[in-house]
Amino acid sequence: MALSLKGRTVLVIGRGSGIASAVVLAAQSEGANVVVAGRDREALRDAYDDPGIEVEEVDLNDDASIAALAERLGEIDHLVSTASARARGHLAELDRRAVLHSFDTKVVGPIMLAKYFSGRIAEGGSFTLFSGVAAFKPVVGYLGVAATNGAADFLTRSLALEMGPVRVNAISPGVIDTGIWDSLGEEEKKAYFENLRAANPARRIGTVDDISAAVLFAMTNASLTGVTLRVDGGEPLT
Ligand SMILES: NC(=O)c1ccc[n+]([C@@H]2O[C@H](COP(=O)([O-])OP(=O)(O)OC[C@H]3O[C@@H](n4cnc5c(N)ncnc54)[C@H](OP(=O)(O)O)[C@@H]3O)[C@@H](O)[C@H]2O)c1
Repeated sequence: MALSLKGRTVLVIGRGSGIASAVVLAAQSEGANVVVAGRDREALRDAYDDPGIEVEEVDLNDDASIAALAERLGEIDHLVSTASARARGHLAELDRRAVLHSFDTKVVGPIMLAKYFSGRIAEGGSFTLFSGVAAFKPVVGYLGVAATNGAADFLTRSLALEMGPVRVNAISPGVIDTGIWDSLGEEEKKAYFENLRAANPARRIGTVDDISAAVLFAMTNASLTGVTLRVDGGEPLT
């Protein structure tokens, strides 16, 4: 059964661009009332510049902030958390603080969201987390990212069991050009993307719209729960 998003309240946590923004616009175009929440309320307000989008503040590293957001919003229909703080780097460069911060943001943060939003997600509602391709295709230099995304993948099934009938799913994007690869520099990024595109079975680099379509599917398919949807061009198969 496909559920409608019309008139439903969808809370999207993350930044005002990249995948979060694509999810916001896709949910809005389906008639949802969208609330966006992130660490910098003013930046979010500037990014969306739309009185139809409610802007809220939340820091997933801070339980009081999560509890206060849940209290302010009351009942919602769908919750999506895109927040992430990558711990990239080879073993020699990784420090404990960065790895803990990555887990705290993308694994513990969603656990606390589940805790404080429990009982506040309406019938037919859902919680969508984010994992990522690094969990399913290990690459040297991405150990911290892989372990974090792997934990988010496992967490999804435990949450689906405990939060039912609220449906809980995760999306695992492949490499998507949201600005996070710009640090490679123009030439290296171009070569990296071209190699990925040529090698993966779908022969393409995914887009934010591929990912927002998967989030919409996770929110609206009444029987989908406990699943990580890998929207990665088949990269882990290579
Ligand atoms: N892009 C890719 O290639 C790719 C690949 C695999 C998986 N993913 C996953 O897909 C999701 C979206 O990716 P993206 O590239 O669009 O965005 P992203 O750069 O991963 O954005 C995540 C945003 O989360 C927010 N955030 C960080 N810590 C937070 C906290 N404590 N509380 C609340 N918000 C916090 C930050 O926004 P502010 O700085 O504005 O606070 C940050 O920009 C992420 O989970 C990412 O790991 C992306």
